[in-house]
Amino acid sequence: MLLFKKVADLQSWLDSQRAKGDKIGFAPTMGALHDGHLELIRMAKRDGCLAVASIFVNPTQFNDPKDLEKYPRLPEKDAALLLGAHCDALFMPPVEEVYPPGIELTIELDFRQLDKVMEGVFRPGHFKGMATVVKRLLDIVQPQQLYMGQKDFQQLSIVRDMIRQLQLPVELVMCPTVREADGLAMSSRNMRLTPEMRTIAPVIHKTLQWAKKELEARPATEIGAEAMQRLSEAGLQPEYFDIVDGISLLPVARWAGSDFIVACTAAFAGEVRLIDNLVLKG
Ligand code: PAJ
Repeated sequence: MLLFKKVADLQSWLDSQRAKGDKIGFAPTMGALHDGHLELIRMAKRDGCLAVASIFVNPTQFNDPKDLEKYPRLPEKDAALLLGAHCDALFMPPVEEVYPPGIELTIELDFRQLDKVMEGVFRPGHFKGMATVVKRLLDIVQPQQLYMGQKDFQQLSIVRDMIRQLQLPVELVMCPTVREADGLAMSSRNMRLTPEMRTIAPVIHKTLQWAKKELEARPATEIGAEAMQRLSEAGLQPEYFDIVDGISLLPVARWAGSDFIVACTAAFAGEVRLIDNLVLKG
């Protein structure tokens, strides 16, 4: 696996690989890697791509400066994991390579309701920063395939919309959420959970599964409210539990309301904010 820190070095290597006919599969990450991230790399390799990963803790997508500061950084361990997953190249740029001083790169797209609901309510500015860095990284890497996880369902919807609006020549490939044995969605943030919160956190997935069973029989708002209560009673501090259309991300009232229904939730487990989702229909 090759390690690149500079845009120019990565690009000249990518050019030489493209000249040989290689297809580039790209998985952007913020590091502190786990099996969910590695699955993106494995998928790219299974698709016959040259797998390129990036690790960049993007300052523009953190609405809470404490969250940015506390974000785990484990570059050596991450590099070893990527090597084990047969990743071909790792791009680990310093901030000034991604955001050269004096160059305005902020993405100013209108994502309509997509960036205003759910995470958009609780993390103002987050998706603008996320879209900006994903666009910048796509411009640098110019992959044919972009691998992203269903775990961040709203992020995926917004990236899909950005690709559509800007007509970017890349195919977005969705990777199903990789979970721990007890159902907790793998996340770089899980390592910050206290032992007590780690035992409680799987209730998030259990509540999503419960909602899936309930939805055929009951209105979505009732299920959402009861799900919030279940999460609170278990010792978490839920921010939302929304049952939405999987394309528009707008609320769905009942089972018959859409062919593609997803429940999305965010909850604090102590100091750590966790998100998860489950497709309920479709
Ligand atoms: P990060 O949280 O590091 O996630 C990187 C990629 O891994 C995202 O596409 C995310 O959806 C995927 N992922 C995370 N946990 C997963 C899991 N348990 N199963 C499957 N895939 C999982 O998401 C970001 O970074 C950033 O916002 C980024 C896109 C890199 C832009 O900065």
